[in-house]
Amino acid sequence: MRMYDLIYKKREGEELTTEEINYLVKGYTSGDIPDYQMSAWNMAVFFQGMNARETADLTTAMAESGEQIDLSDIGGIKVDKHSTGGVGDTTTLVLAPLVSSTGVPVAKMSGRGLGHTGGTIDKLESIPGYNVKVGMEDFIKQVNEIGVAVVGQTGNLTPADKKIYALRDVTATVKSIPLIASSIMSKKTAGGADGIVLDVKTGKGSFTPTLKESKNLASSMVEIGKEIGRQTIAVITDMNQPLGKAVGNALEVKEAVETLRGNGLEDMEKLCLTLGANMLIIADRVNDFEEGYELLKDKLDSGEALQQFKKLIKAQGGNSQIVEDLSVLPDADYKIDVVSDKSGYISGIDALEVGLTAMSVGAGRSTKEDEIDSAVGVVLSKKHGDYVNEGETLAVLHLNDKSAEEKAVNRLKDAFVIINKEPEKSTLIYDTIK
Ligand code: URA
Ligand code: CA
Repeated sequence: MRMYDLIYKKREGEELTTEEINYLVKGYTSGDIPDYQMSAWNMAVFFQGMNARETADLTTAMAESGEQIDLSDIGGIKVDKHSTGGVGDTTTLVLAPLVSSTGVPVAKMSGRGLGHTGGTIDKLESIPGYNVKVGMEDFIKQVNEIGVAVVGQTGNLTPADKKIYALRDVTATVKSIPLIASSIMSKKTAGGADGIVLDVKTGKGSFTPTLKESKNLASSMVEIGKEIGRQTIAVITDMNQPLGKAVGNALEVKEAVETLRGNGLEDMEKLCLTLGANMLIIADRVNDFEEGYELLKDKLDSGEALQQFKKLIKAQGGNSQIVEDLSVLPDADYKIDVVSDKSGYISGIDALEVGLTAMSVGAGRSTKEDEIDSAVGVVLSKKHGDYVNEGETLAVLHLNDKSAEEKAVNRLKDAFVIINKEPEKSTLIYDTIK
């Protein structure tokens, strides 16, 4: 087999066989196939696409390129959840305790943030003492004992994806549906999940800004799930404004606790219940969506989900007092009101800009080596559809480095679109594909 022929075939829009896809993933991972040939192949895929079978084969080949997590020592159906990346997306912190409070095991490996989106692991590390570096044996033991663990990724998972993604990043081939879909699904597969709930974000601040692209991506991943025998449900959700009100690490932990207390913003709570209900369907815990939604709502209202969060924090060495007393969490020195220059209705909040602003004051990293400031970020005072008076607060910037203030305040102000007429109500859940 020659890589040249596989590039040629794909360029002509032909279908590659399973053996051919295995050959190119193995060859590229080992270094036998050079970057320039893989780049050319990625570009051919970008223009010609791949069918469901090819995409599933690429997923499997990448999943098998490195270590694969074996969760079979945990009883029951293990369902993972993945978001294609949003701003202020605190759902995992709520979902892990919430879903596990129904008796469904949650063995979650999460990532760190890079770029304008935050990462669950960075958020959890803002809880004093919380340990994200848990070995495989202890990880499984903890899930068997208390039903939940949320840890950082261990081991060498999907090296093929890492290498291909880095190449796509610099060759303008990131935004290809089969390449994104296989990249995400390969990581979930290697992570050992039996089933997967995907939160496919749509709108500015997401990977797929249009609804059409988001639906294509969602369908592609659900198809892969079918091909490889892992039940997958994709929910397409709004990213035309940040989720909830908090963006920033400790601020989002606070928001998660408030949501678990039943005091979360409507969009935040609804999204958690929706994703969670779909997880319960895959886990065979409930018969339908409504039953799952109601069960989870009960677990919120009864405080059981909050108690489960406390158990999780304690098991991983964190100060679980935060569940009762949020002042235990890091707090920024300065809280600066970002006020509106005019009166009107909020018709949009640029999630990408809010994410980038939070990052610019220290909530995220621009390189892997950057240190994060857990305390800083943004708390929105207004959301889509709200009315604001001139001089009224739009958002509060939580800051430690005063020199970053002026730029960040202006940026946040500009992220709000304010119009005279009351806008249409925003949609949170656009579609569910299964
Ligand atoms: N997220 C991924 O993990 N992979 C992609 O290709 C795009 C987004
Ligand atoms: Ca949030």
